[in-house]
Amino acid sequence: MKLLLQNGTVVNGQESGKKDILLDGEIICRVDTEISPEEADEVVDLEGKLVFPGFIDAHTHFDLEVSGTVTADDFESGTLAAIAGGTTTIVDFATQNKGETLREALANWHKKADGRSSCDYGFHMAISDWNEEISAQIKDMIEAGVTTFKLYMTYPAMKLNDGEIYEVLKRLHDMGGIAGVHCENADIIDALIREARSQGRLDADTHPRVRPAQLEAEAVHRLLVTARTAGTPIIVVHLTCEEAYREIEQARAGGQEVYAETCPQYLLMDDSLYVQGGAEAAKYVISPPLRKKKDQECLWKALKEDRIQTVSTDHCSFTTGQKAMGKEDFTKIPNGMPGVETRGTLLYTYGVREGRISPEQMCRVLSENPAKLYGMYPQKGCIAAGSTADLVILDPEKEAVISADTQHYAMDYAPFEGTKIKGCIDKVYLHGTLVVDEGTVQVKKAGRYVPRQKYTAPQ
Ligand code: URP
Ligand code: ZN
Ligand code: ZN
Ligand code: ZN
Repeated sequence: MKLLLQNGTVVNGQESGKKDILLDGEIICRVDTEISPEEADEVVDLEGKLVFPGFIDAHTHFDLEVSGTVTADDFESGTLAAIAGGTTTIVDFATQNKGETLREALANWHKKADGRSSCDYGFHMAISDWNEEISAQIKDMIEAGVTTFKLYMTYPAMKLNDGEIYEVLKRLHDMGGIAGVHCENADIIDALIREARSQGRLDADTHPRVRPAQLEAEAVHRLLVTARTAGTPIIVVHLTCEEAYREIEQARAGGQEVYAETCPQYLLMDDSLYVQGGAEAAKYVISPPLRKKKDQECLWKALKEDRIQTVSTDHCSFTTGQKAMGKEDFTKIPNGMPGVETRGTLLYTYGVREGRISPEQMCRVLSENPAKLYGMYPQKGCIAAGSTADLVILDPEKEAVISADTQHYAMDYAPFEGTKIKGCIDKVYLHGTLVVDEGTVQVKKAGRYVPRQKYTAPQ
């Protein structure tokens, strides 16, 4: 079956323009200024619409056990929300529990995702336990299409020490793998928590005070020194602040290969949301925490200058009931917020529409760069002959208001509740199949596992 998508504005990472796209089953077979309808069995008119390569969210946590509970969204609700928001591929963090092999962790994540996912999915492997046996399993992971790894410098259940991080990176250097790292100084955070506890400051509004920007910047600096020593390129995930960004820029000036990711919440929300305290503040208890207006400006500027490569969501959702587990003690609030459904429309409305980034930059940070960095390019991440027909059609004139009532999450609140959007997801094609039409999900659970190649450098 050949399908012709006519008259849309096709946005790629380097250029955009009015083009026709001819699909042959699951694959894009031609992209041209004018393709005759006679070549197709079916024609869809996309006049006035923007066509992006399917968005890729390389930072989600679905069906993850943390803080004595499990994230509200599993692969079923999480990937349903993803596809409704134009995300055709997610890369979730398969997580090794202490004492577990990487193979066991990967099998566990397949069990959670296989047959349940409405968008394509891959896995990074989060390493929480490091020894020679685990080191030997890195090869199996890469062969299974898990070419990217995640390390935590904080969280007691998952953190590795600097020497261990060095050893992982050294091994990845030899194997052609790459790691994304959560950077915060765990020891000082623990000391600040003890201090807050001794002063009886246990409300949610204390959360940002025990995780200040300098503790992220210090950890980023230390990670960069570690990665430089190992000779391995590195990804700083969920970058939030100017101080940490400066560390990255300084390392790059010294010739180091460093990539950075940020998230919509760090671009659009600030720490004033903690001031009200209690259940309201608990919704925004994420790590690292929301920062200042000046940090948002720094992140937008870095995006504009192509110094931040990807915008992911760090989707890690907990209901208000789950957040209430920490109502007497903020350290018991499960950390994280949902976001996988609203990333594209938020970035279009507040990035492209407001002139902070171009449509091509939006394409780069949501599609092209994650496809390259996470080993899926050019099958994904671009609209070109030979690529998989994962496409998002955005209606730039359509308006909406974000609300928990209309989202697909297994959630009872939306962090961006009431936020106005101009630019809505109209249609989504997942390997050539129309899975979202007029903003409504039509086909569920059509997602497939994506074994990934080794990373290539964006740009
Ligand atoms: O608070 C957050 N971000 N929770 C998710 C886990 C992580 O740190 O990425
Ligand atoms: Zn993290
Ligand atoms: Zn420094
Ligand atoms: Zn995360």
